Amino acid sequence: MIEVTLVEGRQDLERILALQSANLREVVAAEDARREGFVTVAHTLAILEQMHSIAPSVIARDGEHVAGYALVMPVEARTLIPMLEPMFHQFETLLWRGQPLAALPYYVMGQICVAHDYRGQGVFDALYREHRARYASRFALCVTEVATRNTRSMRAHARVGFEVVRTYRDAVDEWAVIAWDWTSA
Ligand SMILES: CC(C)(COP(=O)(O)OP(=O)(O)OC[C@H]1O[C@@H](n2cnc3c(N)ncnc32)[C@H](O)[C@@H]1OP(=O)(O)O)[C@@H](O)C(=O)NCCC(=O)NCCS
Repeated sequence: MIEVTLVEGRQDLERILALQSANLREVVAAEDARREGFVTVAHTLAILEQMHSIAPSVIARDGEHVAGYALVMPVEARTLIPMLEPMFHQFETLLWRGQPLAALPYYVMGQICVAHDYRGQGVFDALYREHRARYASRFALCVTEVATRNTRSMRAHARVGFEVVRTYRDAVDEWAVIAWDWTSA
């Protein structure tokens, strides 16, 4: 049975890193990346521990196995990953329904991954249900970025309720900034 909870400690974080490393863009074959997606940022255990101390992430466990995870990255964590600084900087320039996005209580969903054998079984939705259950009392908006060529992830995020705020291209990829508004339905 799959259990979806907040991350509980170092072992969870180590297992998250193992799943992450199998899904990094550098190691996923081109055809698999096209069909099933990939992740871009490689975290270290030290960084995940610091993020965890600010706000625990969400994990789906099936016994000893990690079925998936969705990281929580509040704005206070922005200095931990210099590669993401341009993203946070950009958020300061964006509007959400006519208001400056950065003036709203938002956090970043820092990375989501569902293990290969668990895809297409509702784990993605369960991870985001847990995000909302745990964090909607503190935040109005959950914001993230998805490479637009990761069409599977784009589609799954739209299904959950994310809307595209803007798209842009950098040296790495073309990205969609997407947001899920918890103040409306
Ligand atoms: C992306 C990911 C998190 C999605 O989780 P999942 O369990 O596979 O997602 P789901 O099966 O619930 O939803 C996928 C949706 O995309 C659709 N889909 C499947 N393959 C697709 C493809 N190649 N192109 C477009 N849509 C696709 C599915 O039909 C489904 O949409 P629907 O519910 O409207 O029919 C997971 O595949 C994954 O971890 N991939 C590797 C890492 C990754 O890409 N992480 C996201 C980084 S932003």
